[in-house]
Amino acid sequence: MSLGGLAAKIVELSREALTVVREYTHLTPLSPSATLSKLSGARVYLKYENLQKTGSFKVRGALYKVFKVKEGASGVVAASAGNHAQGVAYAASIMGMPSIIVMPEYASIPKVEATKSYGAEVVLYGKIYDEAYSKALEIAEARGFEFVHAFDDIDVIAGQATLGLEITGQLQDFDVILVPVGGGGLISGIASIVKARKPGVKVIGVEPEAAPKMLYSLKAGRPVSIEPKYSIADGLITKKPGELTFQIVSELVDDIVTVSEEELSEAIYLLLERKKTLVEGAGAASVAALISGRVNVEDKKTVAILSGGNIDMTVISKVILKGLSKAGRVVRITGYVLDRPGQLKRVLEVIASHRGNIIDVQHDWSDPKIPAWHAKVTIMFETPSIQATNKILEDLLKEGYEFSLEG
Ligand SMILES: Cc1ncc(COP(=O)(O)O)c(C=O)c1O
Repeated sequence: MSLGGLAAKIVELSREALTVVREYTHLTPLSPSATLSKLSGARVYLKYENLQKTGSFKVRGALYKVFKVKEGASGVVAASAGNHAQGVAYAASIMGMPSIIVMPEYASIPKVEATKSYGAEVVLYGKIYDEAYSKALEIAEARGFEFVHAFDDIDVIAGQATLGLEITGQLQDFDVILVPVGGGGLISGIASIVKARKPGVKVIGVEPEAAPKMLYSLKAGRPVSIEPKYSIADGLITKKPGELTFQIVSELVDDIVTVSEEELSEAIYLLLERKKTLVEGAGAASVAALISGRVNVEDKKTVAILSGGNIDMTVISKVILKGLSKAGRVVRITGYVLDRPGQLKRVLEVIASHRGNIIDVQHDWSDPKIPAWHAKVTIMFETPSIQATNKILEDLLKEGYEFSLEG
């Protein structure tokens, strides 16, 4: 199908998809953010798809696809380690169909449990996604179930396009829309709608530096495979864009930018601290692009999609600690004290006198590199301000304890 035909078909299907999606999902808020506008220089609007049913926009494509196949198939199969798994499991239970989700063996326990809780049978198979994918195709063949692709499927893309319909309905005019890119299903759906309804709007995709598959494919002029590295934005880790998604992105998307792991982590922290909203790494990509200045959006009315909120609790605690350290609100200091009773107590008293609140203390005298009769002490504490930290270091020095700031 020619691109004009393909995008027009997606627009047409998306209207039917919206009637299905509306019935079983939330109409998530789209609202301006003064904080992000100030930080980026743009006029920023956030679309809160992290508050969507199942925790991400993925449920849209899954619902429409399952709705389309429910008459002709006896069940559905998908391969996914994350949000697509939950979307398909939820959609199948709504449509009264059995579902089998093949997840790689490393899939996180909360995601496996969430997928099961929507009524799916979960099969753990393979070390990497590709192995789970092959297994899912095998199961589909053997059981006569329909395989639901995570992004390279016109019905799935039309389902994701309902997010574009919703946004263009909620905000009359805007200049730029920032969309996270995994396999490219979401941005294909959004671009098809936006370019049909508001051709002047720039559609910009955001990928992690760890997996720039769409960027590399655009440069190569065809979908190419990459070896992704680890990323906190696990939802955006895909080896290769789809055939359909590559075709749509290469024609309709204005630009693709990449963001670093540091920028993704900062964006999650900022959204949590300032907007009181929790997003996962993939869901933070558009905000990461905004605050890092990777996109030129000065004065532009810019929509940033927060595409999902399914983040592991263990990851959140690391992001918060990193954010607090970066802001100088949690610090770690190291120094040597005489290995005598009362010395460590005195150091802690100095910290407390400036309202430092201890998080962790390490006291080591066993390392042969430590000067004789001394112990090496590393203290992590919350501090009210950088000034208070400097005062603590000064007062410790006055008392003969030479400590320095780490990191
Ligand atoms: C939260 C989140 N955002 C964005 C994406 C990217 O979507 P797509 O693969 O359609 O590009 C995903 C994919 O899983 C996701 O889970």
